[in-house]
This record gives sequence, structure tokens and C-alpha cells, in this order.
Amino acid sequence: MTTTTPLSPLDADGVAAAVEEALAAVTAATTLEELKTARLAHTGDRAPLTLANREIGRLAPKDKATAGRLLGQARGRLQQAIAARQAELEAEEEERRLREETVDVTLPVDRRPRGARHPLEILQEEVGDFFVAMGWEIAEGPEVEHEWLNFDALNHGPDHPARQMADTFYVRGTAERETPGLVLRTHTSPVQARTLLERDLPVYIACPGKVFRNDALDATHTPVFHQVEGLAVDRGLTMAHLKGTLDHFARAMFGPEARTRLRPSFFPFTEPSAEMDLWFPQKKGGAGWIEWGGCGMVDPQVLVAAGIDPDEYTGFAFGMGLERTLMLRHGIADMHDIVEGDMRFSRQFGTTGKGN
Ligand code: FA5
Ligand code: MG
Repeated sequence: MTTTTPLSPLDADGVAAAVEEALAAVTAATTLEELKTARLAHTGDRAPLTLANREIGRLAPKDKATAGRLLGQARGRLQQAIAARQAELEAEEEERRLREETVDVTLPVDRRPRGARHPLEILQEEVGDFFVAMGWEIAEGPEVEHEWLNFDALNHGPDHPARQMADTFYVRGTAERETPGLVLRTHTSPVQARTLLERDLPVYIACPGKVFRNDALDATHTPVFHQVEGLAVDRGLTMAHLKGTLDHFARAMFGPEARTRLRPSFFPFTEPSAEMDLWFPQKKGGAGWIEWGGCGMVDPQVLVAAGIDPDEYTGFAFGMGLERTLMLRHGIADMHDIVEGDMRFSRQFGTTGKGN
């Protein structure tokens, strides 16, 4: 602002014009910095209104009051406008800072992935819970098992084909029959033998666990897989109890629409024996039945070997495949997806148990 002749403190129009000009500058300021510049220009030492104010002392006494009121009001108005604009800009500034610094807690964060529990782990827990809810107990056995418990105690003769190296992984052979053989258990059924030897009757046990077979990996087989064994020995148990239990289990796993069928089969430790199949619409090569597991009435010889009177007690047993359960339940057409450990596969099932 450069004025050559200073503004007269009695020039009401001039004062009003200076005020208008100052107010326009205040309103035009869009930042605190600009407002500061406008304030210094219009209220600072060299501002027209400041200079005019200084002139009042030199006026004739009769004019001093008029000029004092005029400039007092003018400067008052200006100060007020500056203060109001200051408050406005500070509020705007604050709001902008808050907006810019806001943390959106819903944005995905860049951090180490949490990983995912394998769906088989989750399924094993769910299966365990299912049997516990029926009042059954969970039993366990080792993955490296005595050959005797894996085969002999379950009525497999010494020449049973399942004993062949082609089917069974031996940890310690029985070449001269001097040392007891050790195998990676080929099914969870040795837990039946352990249970009958260790527990008091009646028994109702379930055992989910890992088993091993010299099988090639294909769409429905893998050399390392999981089964859930079930064993019930009590007075008066019949095939109807077995079928009822498996149907209940199937509905819990696959829903009320699940289609099952029992097919006569053979196991050395059950008589009669059967296999349960489930209808699998996603089966590779076209919808069809897929075997879920084996079952049967506990062979009287197995009971006798455990010191149980088969005239007083009867029992039923079953062993269902858990990979198969997962495939049937989720329409997984290929076993490779289950065993390969790709997180993109596991994550679809969530990281925890129920509800995911
Ligand atoms: C048995 O293992 C018997 N121990 C089952 C049994 C228990 C019968 C109690 C009677 C009483 P099997 O060999 O059929 O039976 O295997 C049972 C289930 O395990 C199969 O139906 C299938 O679901 C699953 N299974 C078998 N081999 C494989 C494999 N290589 N990969 C994935 N799942 C398999
Ligand atoms: Mg079978």
C-alpha cells in the first residue's frame, strides 16, 4: 500500500475506503500466512489507518474527538474482522490436518501374512467335537506302531497282502522274527486293539489321526492321509447301531441331503464288513459314488484276543478317510490341492475352527 499523502483523520470517506480495502484483503486471505500479511499491511506501523491515527494529535482540539471516534471505530471494525477471519482459518486448518492425518482402520495393512490352519486340522477338531458331543471319548495311538498291533491283533494272518512292503512302510523289519516289527501305521485301527487292551467296558471311542501307505499320489489317494477310527463295544450293539451312527456322522459332515450307501466288503477284524460310499457330484470324470470308509461288527476273535466274552459283548467299528471327507464336503476334485500346502487353498477355509 503506497499512498503519498497520508490519510486525514477527518476524511470520513477516505477512512471508510481504507477500511473497505482492508476488509477485502482480510476476506481474501485463505491461509493464516496470507491473513498475517494483510494484518501487517492494514494495521501495522505503516498502514494508512495507523498513520491517520497518529495525525490526531496534531488536530485542533475541537476536531480531536470526531477524528478519534472515526478512527477508533474504523480500527475496531478491522480488528474484529481480523480476529473472526483468524478463528475461521484456524478451524479450517485444524480440520484439514485432522482429515489428512486420519487413520482408516479398515484399510488392509501391509504386514506379515497370518498364515492359515490347514483345513484338515480344523476338520479333525470338528470330528473330535462331533463324537465328544455324543458322549464318546477321544483315544490316541502312535504313528510308528508295532506291526503286531497294526496287523496281528486285528486278525491279519502272517501272509496277509497288506503286510507287503509294497503297501506298508516298515520302520523295522521282522526278517528273522527276532525283533518285533515296527511300521508306520497303515490305518487307525490299531487304536481299537490298544483301546480294548487298556480300557474298561463299555467303550465308545473315536480316534482321528495320521496314517501311511505306499500309495501313489493321485486324484483320490495320497501316501500320507488321515482317518477317524470309531469303536463301540457294549452289550447288545448291532449293525443297526453302526448304520445309525454313520448316517448321523454323514449328515453332520455333509448336510441332511447326503446320499450314502453301505456296500458289503471284507476286513479281517470285522464280520460282517462293509464300506460306506457317498455320492460325489464333483467326481473327476463324472458324478459317482466315492468310498468314504470301511466298517463292520467287531470280529468275535478280536474280542476274545482282548479277553472279552463275545457272547456278552458285541461291538462295531469304522474308519473313515478325512481327506475324502474334505473332498466330498467341499467338492474338491483333486487330492493334490489338499496335500500341496498352498496357502491360497487353506485360506478359503479360514484360520480358525467353527463358523469359518
Ligand atoms: C481301513 O483302513 C480300515 N482300517 C477301515 C475299518 C475300520 C474297517 C474299522 C472296519 C472297521 P480302508 O483301507 O478301506 O479301510 O481305508 C479306509 C478309508 O481311508 C478309505 O475308504 C478312504 O476314505 C481312506 N483312504 C484309504 N487309502 C487312502 C489314500 N491312499 N489316500 C486317502 N485316503 C485313503
Ligand atoms: Mg477301502
